[in-house]
Amino acid sequence: MEILEIQNLTKIYKDGTTALRDISFNVKKGEFAIIIGSSGAGKSTILRSINRLVQPTSGSILFQNKEITTSSKGELRKIRREMGMIFQGFHLIKRVSVLKNVLHGRLGYMNSFKGAIGAFSKEDEEAAWSLLERVGLTDQAYKRAGELSGGQQQRVAIARALAQKPALILADEPIASLDPTTSETIMNYLYQICHEDGITCIVNLHQVEVAKRYATRILGVQQGTIIFDGSATELSDSEIQHIYQKKLVV
Ligand SMILES: Nc1ncnc2c1ncn2[C@@H]1O[C@H](COP(=O)(O)OP(=O)(O)O)[C@@H](O)[C@H]1O
Ligand SMILES: [Mg+2]
Repeated sequence: MEILEIQNLTKIYKDGTTALRDISFNVKKGEFAIIIGSSGAGKSTILRSINRLVQPTSGSILFQNKEITTSSKGELRKIRREMGMIFQGFHLIKRVSVLKNVLHGRLGYMNSFKGAIGAFSKEDEEAAWSLLERVGLTDQAYKRAGELSGGQQQRVAIARALAQKPALILADEPIASLDPTTSETIMNYLYQICHEDGITCIVNLHQVEVAKRYATRILGVQQGTIIFDGSATELSDSEIQHIYQKKLVV
């Protein structure tokens, strides 16, 4: 079953930069898809179009059969809470506790008053604790998020995304600022949890070796176009070279 259907997506930024040129691809429920490509290829623009942090110039994005590109603010709020986001820079509230950061994943489900005063339900608190347990951080729950190491902060960000009970997780270069060992830990958590919970995941990466290890499917982007779509075993060295090669300007 398709969870995401992207058709003829084009994004031209206000300054005239064409970031995506007429791209189309579908993602099936339960896939762990990894988008690779060099810096500036358009990876972030794809993820940001999916949760509409970026407004596409043209094309269609169906998420669970709902059109995202034209949805109203109210619809968008509902759509966004089903999409967990994970960023390179973690995007935690550093002065607030680890537990509170995880609970913030529930804000999309609360009215703004309850959200503002932090009136989380008993179930939400219990769920947050069990998520912290899954990412091995129960002993850090009352620390300020900013005191944790980068790898630990990214585990908090994973727990926060999961607190949303998302159908889809979008991770934009989640390991770009981490060392190789920590990167592996993060990828293991992300892969394992998505697999266990049946959450579909799309991850932007530029480490090809990591992509090959985890991806159920790899999409190769170059200058706003998808030039590879297949399995890790289908991704040959010459395909990799092709993806990372800068096009000559003629
Ligand atoms: N807000 C923006 N305004 C103008 N150009 C942008 C903006 N964001 C990204 N771009 C440009 O769009 C292209 C794709 O960027 P991006 O999606 O960030 O690529 P990647 O994530 O693969 O590095 C690049 O040429 C980048 O400079
Ligand atoms: Mg990017």
